[in-house]
Amino acid sequence: MKIPFGTLTVTQKSKDLIKEILDSNRLSSGRYVRLLERKFAEITGTKEAVAVSSGTDADALALAALYDFGAKRKDEIIIPALSFVATGNAVLHAGFTPRFVDIDKNTLNIDPAKIEAAITEKTRAIMPVHLMGKPAEMDAINAIAKKYNLFVIEDAAEAHGAVYKERKVGTLGTMAAYSLYVAHIITTVEGGIITTNNEDLAEVLRSLRSHGRACKCKSCVLNTTSGYCEKRFKYDKDIRFFFERIGYSSKMNELEAAIGLGNLEIYDEILQRRRNNLMYIMSRFKKFSSYLTTFEELPYEKIGPHAFPFIVREGAKFTRNELADFLEKNGIDTRDLFSSIPTQCPGYEFLGYKPGDFPNAEYIGNNGLHIGIHQDMGKEECDYFIDKVEEFLMRHA
Ligand SMILES: Cc1ncc(COP(=O)(O)O)c(C=O)c1O
Repeated sequence: MKIPFGTLTVTQKSKDLIKEILDSNRLSSGRYVRLLERKFAEITGTKEAVAVSSGTDADALALAALYDFGAKRKDEIIIPALSFVATGNAVLHAGFTPRFVDIDKNTLNIDPAKIEAAITEKTRAIMPVHLMGKPAEMDAINAIAKKYNLFVIEDAAEAHGAVYKERKVGTLGTMAAYSLYVAHIITTVEGGIITTNNEDLAEVLRSLRSHGRACKCKSCVLNTTSGYCEKRFKYDKDIRFFFERIGYSSKMNELEAAIGLGNLEIYDEILQRRRNNLMYIMSRFKKFSSYLTTFEELPYEKIGPHAFPFIVREGAKFTRNELADFLEKNGIDTRDLFSSIPTQCPGYEFLGYKPGDFPNAEYIGNNGLHIGIHQDMGKEECDYFIDKVEEFLMRHA
């Protein structure tokens, strides 16, 4: 049996749209990207959604938008030490300095008790990550943000469909950044999207994704209907060549939107299937708890079913890599459970952190794995995974 990490569902609706878009010869960002944004905002329950070309750019643009709201270059952004490296990269791409905070080993998320010690005069925002779809402790994080007057940007790249205290993840801060990469719950193959209830922020985001130009209408008549733009000479210069801020080249195109729109039509179905897989694996995995741990779903939350994380316990007689190797040889695709960005990613050495600064993140970085729980998996694949883990433990534990 083969269990790939992710899977891409291209629906008939997407195929029909792709044909229509190709025939129309109108492929760059246009009306289908706008439609995707509207539908995504509806699903997340936010006023605005701004589509961009990756989840990393969604993080970076959300941060860069803060320059219009008082932030200065090199200000500091608090992020968890453990995440996919994109979270740290995005902070640097946006011209800020990351300030890392260790995680809680049980939740895999930023430890709110350690945030205040990392706040300085230069801190502008906290960017919690809902790692593996498990909501970060947003009440505690928002209380700290309120006390110090900080923005909160949720890195919800892995958290589509997650719920925290009856509120959808992605609506709990000033903005939320999602990845729409192929292995994620809703995908446009490559892509990202930022949600917010703040219309002024959304305008800035639309400008940022298109080189920082003054063009930032919610629906651009030039791009959607080839209509006449009344604002074109508002600045005594073509608005498209008047650059208000340092921008990015990060637009989504119509073909990507077509894949996403097809996915959104079956969003509930995808979510339910992935959730069934996650809950089933979590319940069967409990028997391995002397050797391997995982996270828990608390009564006030719903984990967004992105993937299944598991961690080798301290003192085990086997290593994470031995387990990963065994699973790979048996057709089960695994991924490391990321790294401590400041101390286990060589690109970050210039920041001067030392091994041991983030013990929990480093432990997960050395001992964690995750596997897919995607919509093309079912009970049979989940059982196969559990059987293979059992077989490995019988031989090695
Ligand atoms: C937590 C987190 N943030 C950001 C990203 C970046 O997303 P993308 O790969 O779409 O750039 C990812 C990607 O998987 C992620 O897991």
